[in-house]
Amino acid sequence: LQSEALTKIADCQNNQDLNAVRVEYLGKKGPIQNLMKGMKDLTPDQRPAFGQKVNQLKSQIAKAIEEKREALAKKELQEKIEREKIDITLPGRKPVIANLHPLNLVCQELEDLFIGLGYQVIEGDDIVSDEYCFERANIPKDHPARDMQDSLYIDPNWLLRTHTTAIQMEVLEQSAPHLPIKVVCPGKVYRRDDDDATHSHQFMQMEGLVIGEHVTLSDLKGTLEFMARKLFGQDRQIRFRPSFFPFTEPSVEVDVSCHICNGKGCPTCKGTGWIEILGAGEVHPNVLKMAGYDPDKCSGFAFGVGIERVAMLKYGIDDIRHFYTNDMRFLEPFKRFD
Ligand code: PHE
Repeated sequence: LQSEALTKIADCQNNQDLNAVRVEYLGKKGPIQNLMKGMKDLTPDQRPAFGQKVNQLKSQIAKAIEEKREALAKKELQEKIEREKIDITLPGRKPVIANLHPLNLVCQELEDLFIGLGYQVIEGDDIVSDEYCFERANIPKDHPARDMQDSLYIDPNWLLRTHTTAIQMEVLEQSAPHLPIKVVCPGKVYRRDDDDATHSHQFMQMEGLVIGEHVTLSDLKGTLEFMARKLFGQDRQIRFRPSFFPFTEPSVEVDVSCHICNGKGCPTCKGTGWIEILGAGEVHPNVLKMAGYDPDKCSGFAFGVGIERVAMLKYGIDDIRHFYTNDMRFLEPFKRFD
């Protein structure tokens, strides 16, 4: 019995097995208890020696069980330590650090630049009234210029803004009659357009507006030259070409000398040495009047730049759709910190 019990104990793989063995041998219905019960059939002088033997056997088994229990616990701890061992020589994983989207980078760069020149940054709502998007910008209902900006209407009076000029028209009215006004208005704009490499039904603009007592076209030129040099390099030149916008008179289109070939002619500037970057002009007297200003007493300029266009030129991006697809392979190179 003794060696049978000890072998079983030694064979136990876990506490559960061990408990089962304990119950089997030391339990109320076990062989030790049976031996005890059998004592009554012995003669009184046989009993002490027999009792002693049975007790010895009992404590031997109990001791073996206890020892096995400790051994199992030790083994388990050892295994756990082994399992949870940390290899401190393994190189650490680098945390993924978020970075700014290239459109935000350009926006921030422009905002910093204009804040440095004393401008305020004003954002408006994406949904605007027909009144502020068009009427106040001197584009009445039947004006052909409405075709320039195929719009997404929500109802007859409200639409997704087609240009950030809508923000400027509100700023203009709210500020009247106080001068000067110096604001830049960044934001998303929406047009009914078929998406391709250079067109998107939604894109970003930043428009600037300056109104004061003697604000002239040469102030505009100096400001835009400063901006072009900051964005594309100190050697850049700009030039004005006559253009038309209903809300400015005169209106100009602004070209910057190509930053790739420095004006010599290359595929980026289609061999001309110049790249068109924005539209601008002197604010139309009608616009000033409608907002409550006297065009004889003040004047100003406005310009509107496409953020995507600047980002594409600056970073050499060939397809506007890259900005909106969230492809990490496209976004990765814009990491500023590592
Ligand atoms: N609003 C014009 C556009 O969306 C840009 C512009 C702004 C032109 C201000 C002149 C002055 O195309």
